Amino acid sequence: MEKLLFIDSCIRREESRSKQAADYLMKKVDESGKFEIDSLCLMDEPLHYLSEGFFQQRESMLSEGKIDHRRFDYAHQFAKADVIVIAAPFWDLGFPALLKTYIENVSVDGITFYADAEGIHGMSQGRLLIFVTTRGGYYENLPLEMGSRYMEALAEFFGIDEYVCCFAEGLDIEGNNPKQLIQDLFDDIDRLNI
Ligand SMILES: Cc1cc2nc3c(=O)[nH]c(=O)nc-3n(C[C@H](O)[C@H](O)[C@H](O)COP(=O)(O)O)c2cc1C
Repeated sequence: MEKLLFIDSCIRREESRSKQAADYLMKKVDESGKFEIDSLCLMDEPLHYLSEGFFQQRESMLSEGKIDHRRFDYAHQFAKADVIVIAAPFWDLGFPALLKTYIENVSVDGITFYADAEGIHGMSQGRLLIFVTTRGGYYENLPLEMGSRYMEALAEFFGIDEYVCCFAEGLDIEGNNPKQLIQDLFDDIDRLNI
């Protein structure tokens, strides 16, 4: 059975429209019975960004090849997932810092990627990364949009074969109907072939 890792970075929790869309997707995925599912709610994880001693510890452990230390558990879990679903709102043209902190913890040389004379190579066994997000304004295909574009680049960096973004936008524009926009996102999710 394939492994699916769900990473929830929807800071507003049950109020979050991105979370509602991700829940809709995850219910379908669960009901398909095709996956062994692991879920991480980042708001409840003891995540630290790289700084001072936490950064130094990582450098010494990697130079000594100690990649089995528990601080690298997030990276091992990420690398072993066949399908990864990440849910996060569109914040400040990208996504919340909490998700970036998680990414810092999974980007580990020797676990999710390695570098040699030819460049950088992904080590993830993932075949698909799905990013679920909702945006207040309109950004599709604009260079200002750096949430989905960053996720797509990360998928390539980690060696994940395919990337899909499920999104709704314009949710906070006066006169729009956010409920309908979310329903349209649900319909897009129904059309996904996972
Ligand atoms: C801290 C913060 C930053 C935001 N930054 C942007 C932004 O740069 N562009 C935009 O269109 N909307 C922005 N928004 C609006 C959200 O993208 C929008 O409300 C989205 O649907 C929130 O997702 P959620 O319901 O999953 O929390 C921001 C909202 C917050 C709270």
